[in-house]
Amino acid sequence: MSEVNKLGKATLKFDGKTIELPVFEGSEHEKAIDIRRLRKETGLITYDPGFVNTGSCQSEITYIDGEKGILRYRGYDINDLAEKCEFVEVAYLLVHGKLPGKKQHQIFSTHLNSHSMLHEDMRHFFDNYPDHAHPMATLSAMAVSLSSFYPELETSKKENIDIRVTRLLSKMRAAAAFSYKKSIGHPIVQPRHDLSYCENFLNMMFRTPVNGYEPDPVCVRALNKLLILHADHEQNCSASVVKMVGSSDANLYASISAGICALWGPLHGGANQHVIEMLERILKKDRGNVKKVIERAKDKNDSFRLMGVGHRVYKSYDPRAKVAKQMCTDVLDQMGVKDPLVDLAQELEEAVLADDYFKSRSLYPNIDFYTGLTYRAMGIPTNMFTVMFAIGRIPGWIAQWLEMKEDPDGRIGRPRQVYTGPTKRKVS
Ligand code: ACO
Repeated sequence: MSEVNKLGKATLKFDGKTIELPVFEGSEHEKAIDIRRLRKETGLITYDPGFVNTGSCQSEITYIDGEKGILRYRGYDINDLAEKCEFVEVAYLLVHGKLPGKKQHQIFSTHLNSHSMLHEDMRHFFDNYPDHAHPMATLSAMAVSLSSFYPELETSKKENIDIRVTRLLSKMRAAAAFSYKKSIGHPIVQPRHDLSYCENFLNMMFRTPVNGYEPDPVCVRALNKLLILHADHEQNCSASVVKMVGSSDANLYASISAGICALWGPLHGGANQHVIEMLERILKKDRGNVKKVIERAKDKNDSFRLMGVGHRVYKSYDPRAKVAKQMCTDVLDQMGVKDPLVDLAQELEEAVLADDYFKSRSLYPNIDFYTGLTYRAMGIPTNMFTVMFAIGRIPGWIAQWLEMKEDPDGRIGRPRQVYTGPTKRKVS
């Protein structure tokens, strides 16, 4: 962990006591008060629902400036990575801190191939899920099941890390494609060693015994980009869950499985599925009446929220949404696909950006607003969108988990509370 820059002390006065708390800053000049001594010396705890102001760690992985709309993995701008790299290179970057050289890339890809098959006994799990099972439920179960099938890799040490990363990446890809095949009653398609990571996924999704399938290079490029956009986002809800579970010394697979469940929620990665469902509803039920939907989203007596809009950290346009929006237009053009939901999404975005309610709260489209439209054009079904997000996020979760394991300040995650229930009483 790099040394932080010490900036002096902040003074807190309460109940006749004064305490000085160290202030420090990170490499991009974000400032923090170190409150570790607070409770011991004053009896006070901090109250911060949703951890809006709470830094849980120091991290060298991902930098976000939510006001300026900046996102960097290990110092590289998200646009640069999405433009010039493949997803597996970015996965390597997140975990190892540097982009792979030719040889490292080759070794990593070989690992991805050699660990790509799912244990036969795991494959049979799919037979016992109902056809309508949500693939996020299956994916989470598959992730934790890996700990029973490959317990030798449960160690928290960095050794074997490439094997654990590639095993998770390639087996989760297979599990995702198998759950789709199961849901439509088709036989599964095994991974192939002659295909790249993204080509393999598309082949497992769309090849059938009666139809050959050649992955479209437009879709392969788009998938690489989408997975890169999803790959990490510092201490978000699912990454924090992964780390919270890992902080109890639970193994990596169990931690990732929990992260998948956290990502599933519609306020987090689940929003990409809900965006498309919302757009479909507006088109069919509300006859494309965007104004009506905007009014509903603003109505404080209505729990409805615009899906794919707003973000805890970004108070300007989400840089991932910018890339996703451009890519959506490009991919649909190149594939010659016309989708009325794209026009509707653009109309909705314009209405959001022009409306004082959204402007005054700094609410902009987030990553989930446009990604689903591209997945849809690629033929990926709506209930698989969050699964795609999860596959992309695996390297980020692993990188965050490993960093936590090596953090000298790391301790089991255990927030406190302010109790407001009944005081002591007796059963009469
Ligand atoms: N539609 C309407 N109003 C919204 C929306 C929205 N999508 N998002 C936030 N607001 C309003 C809130 O009602 C609140 O208004 P108020 O100040 O009058 O009470 C204000 O904006 C601030 O919202 P919070 O809920 O306090 O913001 P928070 O940071 O807690 O939540 C979140 C962020 C969960 C992303 C929220 O914006 C939201 O629910 N968005 C829709 C779901 C979504 O797209 N999630 C994906 C996020 S990206 C990701 O996780 C991968």
